[in-house]
Amino acid sequence: MADSDSGARPGVGALFNAVADDYDQSGVDFFAPIAQGLVDELAPTSGERAVDLGCGRGAATVLLTRGVGATGSVVGLDLSEGMLAHARADLDRQGLVVDLRVGDASEPDLPTGEFDIVASSLVLFFLPEPRVALERWVHLLAPGGRIGLATFGDQDPVWGSVDREFRPWLPPAMRDPRVMGPQSHFGSDEGMEQLLSDAGATDVRTRSVRLPVRFGTVERWEAFSRGTGQRAMWASVPPDEVAGVRDRAAAHLEGARNGHGEIEVWQDIRYTLGGRPHP
Ligand SMILES: C[S@@+](CC[C@H](N)C(=O)[O-])C[C@H]1O[C@@H](n2cnc3c(N)ncnc32)[C@H](O)[C@@H]1O
Repeated sequence: MADSDSGARPGVGALFNAVADDYDQSGVDFFAPIAQGLVDELAPTSGERAVDLGCGRGAATVLLTRGVGATGSVVGLDLSEGMLAHARADLDRQGLVVDLRVGDASEPDLPTGEFDIVASSLVLFFLPEPRVALERWVHLLAPGGRIGLATFGDQDPVWGSVDREFRPWLPPAMRDPRVMGPQSHFGSDEGMEQLLSDAGATDVRTRSVRLPVRFGTVERWEAFSRGTGQRAMWASVPPDEVAGVRDRAAAHLEGARNGHGEIEVWQDIRYTLGGRPHP
């Protein structure tokens, strides 16, 4: 399936086209609660105009559309036609009208100063130049508008150990905040706040939430990770190393059984929020 990778990091559109059918289908609650937290912070109201940048299968898009109601409007933009096809089908099923577009969030081809809400959940770290992109995102806001970004904060050490098993072969398209290190803007609340302030947003602040991630079993963890951008981790491991990686990952996960015997880890979600002042 085609993608428009132009200004985007090479391989990201193709990766999400490949993963689209399985994305968020493992039964593990992850993208929906993260999107819910973001939309709760942005608090859309009836009649507002919102855009969801890197909307994927629509985890935040659906919530924004319900929030702005029939008198509002929502645009969903994503690089991956495969992700958008699923978003379109899900939104249609729910009778929700959204303007879904294939496009590069690095350079969104959208009118400036027209949106009350700019939302983006788990996307910014895929962009080659997050600061430049963010400046464009802030410009999309109408006076009084607000912007919210969901990215990753700290991670359960067990999950970190699992991901480190893939590290030797990790392709560049898969570098998310969990592997970028503390020196990156994505490594701290302050770093993200600085990025958003430098992009021109005001009243910049952070809210963090610790999300329990219940895999239950090793098999469900594998299905989950193969249905996310982490699919690229699996694809990068040489075939004769896959069984060893899986066994070592499973051994780490065994250390994360909760009181019910289920594998459960945690992931901190960082919401970085800001706005554009009234003139
Ligand atoms: C981890 S998914 C998040 C999707 C959705 N926001 C959610 O919360 O489920 C990342 C999404 O960003 C999209 N993406 C990555 N780089 C992009 C770019 N330069 N422009 C537009 N979308 C991009 C991917 O295609 C994918 O749908």
